[in-house]
Amino acid sequence: MDQRIEITDALLARQRDIMERVAELNAGRETPPLALVDTYGCQQNEADSEKLRGMLKKMGYQETRDEYAADVIVINTCAVREHAEQRVLGNVGALTHTKKAKPSQIICLCGCMMQEPGMADRIKNSYHHVRVVFGPHELWRFPEFLLRQLQGEGRIFETAPSDGCVAEGLPSARDSAVKAWLPVMYGCNNFCSYCIVPYVRGRERSRRPADVLAEARALAEAGYKDITLLGQNVNSYGKDLPDGVDFSDLIARINDIPGDFLIRFMTSHPKDAGEKLFSTMARSEKCARHIHLPFQSGSNRVLSAMNRRYTREAYLDLIRMARAYMPDVVLTSDVIVGFPGETEAEFEDTLRLVEEVRFDALFTFIFSPRTGTPAAKMPDPFTREEKQRRFDALVALQNRISEEKHRAYVGSTRRVLIDGQEGDFLTSRTSGGRLVRLRADPSLLGSFRKVRITGSNTWALFGELV
Ligand code: SAM
Ligand code: SF4
Ligand code: F3S
Repeated sequence: MDQRIEITDALLARQRDIMERVAELNAGRETPPLALVDTYGCQQNEADSEKLRGMLKKMGYQETRDEYAADVIVINTCAVREHAEQRVLGNVGALTHTKKAKPSQIICLCGCMMQEPGMADRIKNSYHHVRVVFGPHELWRFPEFLLRQLQGEGRIFETAPSDGCVAEGLPSARDSAVKAWLPVMYGCNNFCSYCIVPYVRGRERSRRPADVLAEARALAEAGYKDITLLGQNVNSYGKDLPDGVDFSDLIARINDIPGDFLIRFMTSHPKDAGEKLFSTMARSEKCARHIHLPFQSGSNRVLSAMNRRYTREAYLDLIRMARAYMPDVVLTSDVIVGFPGETEAEFEDTLRLVEEVRFDALFTFIFSPRTGTPAAKMPDPFTREEKQRRFDALVALQNRISEEKHRAYVGSTRRVLIDGQEGDFLTSRTSGGRLVRLRADPSLLGSFRKVRITGSNTWALFGELV
């Protein structure tokens, strides 16, 4: 409780005033200024980018995807794996051309990668066309940074170490009118030995239940049909608050909000998931029949080295409990192959766990050493080729399972939410989050419909309206 930093109304009001001032400055222009926001990383970053777009909109900017036309470019970065970072740096490097073509362009870098020690200096010294750099904890100050740039101030670097804050009431320009992200907590205290997130996103802090519920109610009233509650470990929700509301209580209260919508959430950490969560899900009719429960490894030695604080057996018990409460629950997971020192036998433990659980889908990652994390210093004798071979074997196994599981849907009738369009098809999702492609009138976008599943492959189902 002591360390909780809520950004005060007075500070937020100052940012709102600045947004108005920038909007006035922009109103004097012949054509509205254009902004481009590019997002890397997880749903939390997508939610943050919707806030950046919300603030830009309030300041009079219109959205563009054209890097040469943009007056402001904001790149919201991810630090979770090296590959994501290399992509960011490559793309930022390429923006020297757009900056040269349009010298007034203001290029900003924000997000998790900027919070890594040394990164701001690297940008300062090697990427001179970048004007503003800020970490996730300073997102709410974006209007101020932008105004200072418009007033001709020098480059801005705001990445001081921080345990993080909670800033309520920032405007959000949501990507979809059907599906919405709803962050319920920020940060992570788990310090899995491979993961950089706790270092760049700060300590766990929950939004007040009243604030979450007000936002959920507003989303339901605005017609959103799919609300995803976000946190790195949603099962820790409320532990830092005096309200005595835990994550299951929060689901139950959102379930009581009138309206026809689905409640989803991610991510659950297996060490904190359990009976109360599953029983609440089972009796909350709005709660999607889907749990994303990352297991990371099927080997107890590796799980311990990862500092995951559960065993393979405890994980399998959890899966059994979830299925006992919700026989039709869709299970997805994250797994890392090639953790330092993972032996062939330990990798086979992972394969066996995947066979045993039969996940509906799996997000598979090759271990990527992150500077500053304990795992980055562990001896890592296996070659990249060896890890790639394991990765390919795991993906092949999961593809077979996903295909078999999808085939079992064929002939059944499911209620889906029609949420998008891809060429000639509309896309929709079952309660379990499985993708169903169907041919139907685009006017059905945003509605729940019954579909009969007529076909399937590894990644998707195909259906027709009933
Ligand atoms: N908080 C979530 C949890 O604990 O499951 C996930 C957060 S992380 C953004 C998403 C996934 O990235 C993790 O579940 C893990 O599988 C993977 N990941 C994290 N750090 C990684 C690393 N250094 N190398 C490879 N994969 C990593
Ligand atoms: Fe990373 Fe572990 Fe926290 Fe997830 S729970 S964000 S994997 S440290
Ligand atoms: Fe990446 Fe940060 Fe999310 S490191 S995965 S964007 S919390």
